[in-house]
Amino acid sequence: MALLIAGNWKMYKTGLETALFCTALGGRVDDLGSVDVVVCPPYTSLDEAVQALGGTTVEVFAQSAHWASEGPFTGEISATMLAELGVTGSLVAHSERRQLFAETDETAARRIDGLLAAGLRVLACVGETESERDEGRTEEVLARQIEAIAAVVPSAERTNLTVAYEPVWAIGTGRTATPEQAQAAHAFIHSFLEVPVLYGGSVKPENAEELLDQGDVDGALVGGASLELESFVAICETAARVGS
Ligand code: PGA
Repeated sequence: MALLIAGNWKMYKTGLETALFCTALGGRVDDLGSVDVVVCPPYTSLDEAVQALGGTTVEVFAQSAHWASEGPFTGEISATMLAELGVTGSLVAHSERRQLFAETDETAARRIDGLLAAGLRVLACVGETESERDEGRTEEVLARQIEAIAAVVPSAERTNLTVAYEPVWAIGTGRTATPEQAQAAHAFIHSFLEVPVLYGGSVKPENAEELLDQGDVDGALVGGASLELESFVAICETAARVGS
């Protein structure tokens, strides 16, 4: 199975910046072979990304979605609206959503349900904080988060589900989990859910290979290094090599 590299752009890149980046990206990664590539721009840049990547194999995901298809939810965007744009999936429950925007296991589960019902793919994020790891609670936290996800996705519908293991202490900090720490967490998640598990947290061209080489690491969710074309392409090239 090809590895999956997803770029989480967070609140970066205007529509114009997105169009330029995606036009260049399509030309660089479309024929890499054994790697699946996804970009997750902000809502206002999704249309530009879909247009610029049309006709390539690169998919465009959103960063979150409301669970209802429409309704009185000021400021929200539904999976149905995303699908109409040509978006094929969405992140769910990124740790920034959990920490800064009151995302819970329950709201994450509802979003997953809404996305799958609309025929979109889900990239659901889990991961422990630094204090949870220091207290020896990593597996307890992962089990709780994974069970909440698994509960809303019947086994027969898991083809559209991918999980990202993102230790919160490694996001945007330059501190990466060691390949052994990543492998252990991924194997633990795989013992609950047989779906691809991406690693995220300070993935860069310099550390991508040792992480992607781990048996239970099925790809990477890349934040900062996905904003620069050269570093994102380099990670995609590494994945194509490691996955072939
Ligand atoms: P980072 O972000 O690669 O900048 O650590 C990863 C993420 O937040 O998904």
